[in-house]
Amino acid sequence: MKYDMNIRLRRNRKNHAIRSMVEETQLSTQNLIYPLFVEDGKSIKTEILSLPNNFRWSLDNLIVEVEQCLRLGIDKYVLFPVVEESKKDKLASYSYADDNFYLGVIRKLKETFPEIVLMSDVAMDPYSSDGHDGFVENGIVLNDETLPILSRMSIAQAQAGIDIIGPSDMMDGRIGYIRSALDAQGYDQTSIMSYTAKYASAFYGPFRDALDSAPRGGDKKTYQMNPANKREATLEAQLDIEEGADIIMVKPATCYLDIIHLLKEQFDTPITAYNVSGEYSMVHAAAKNGWLDYNDAMVEMLLSIRRAGADGILTYFAKDYANLIK
Ligand code: PBG
Repeated sequence: MKYDMNIRLRRNRKNHAIRSMVEETQLSTQNLIYPLFVEDGKSIKTEILSLPNNFRWSLDNLIVEVEQCLRLGIDKYVLFPVVEESKKDKLASYSYADDNFYLGVIRKLKETFPEIVLMSDVAMDPYSSDGHDGFVENGIVLNDETLPILSRMSIAQAQAGIDIIGPSDMMDGRIGYIRSALDAQGYDQTSIMSYTAKYASAFYGPFRDALDSAPRGGDKKTYQMNPANKREATLEAQLDIEEGADIIMVKPATCYLDIIHLLKEQFDTPITAYNVSGEYSMVHAAAKNGWLDYNDAMVEMLLSIRRAGADGILTYFAKDYANLIK
């Protein structure tokens, strides 16, 4: 039986050679940013149970890990601090203390690997006894009172040599506030990647385990975005860009591909997406049960984020992906 058609799309899918030529989306290690967790101490490499194959590192072991990742072509990292309970307080004062180990890690990493791009996390939650990203008074996360704290944290990180500041707190006005504070201190070359459209998501669970940073009361819905909203993301993006963000981020990634696409269409500022802990752990759990193929699911997930319009992807898959395509 032959049905008469002049257009047959399957002709361009007939073998790998032709498929690879008409492939519309490329994803290389160049696009990846690898999140790493650091802890104060020596010889530490503790696996995070809800985030398989991810560890809390002490600086000595972290240096070995980064060396290995560099050989795989991964040269961009975001660092998160695991802070001892005794160092947490209402004002997150340890975040900018002179003896903060996280600042020491930034200094040492940039000294050892000047060629890498190192990104920080700016928010109060890892340092806060309330476990919130902002300053809490009478159960309320106060916006404007949080800004000077975030800005002191940012300046301390800039001083330590961070390349990109990553405000993940979702307070209003923080990008402009931090930008002016950095400029006033002479850090006009320190970039800001703003967590622009950060949603109040269930997919941050494993990350909060990793840092032991879950909110001690309430949730984050008064500052993180409502998953039901889309137009609001363009408002957030417009403000962050006006306030001086160099790169805007959408987070999480896979449930929010429409948001990545929308911002990509509407703005010319580079866009990243955070493929968060829950998205990663979900694939691991299913693969472990034999319900799907780990590598295939990983590639499909990362490609979809890139196809939606992300220039860069923060992902726990970075190392596995780099190994796979090597
Ligand atoms: C907090 C922060 C979170 C993540 C990055 N920075 C968690 C939260 O907002 O509660 C989540 C990252 C992930 O889940 O991988 N400032």
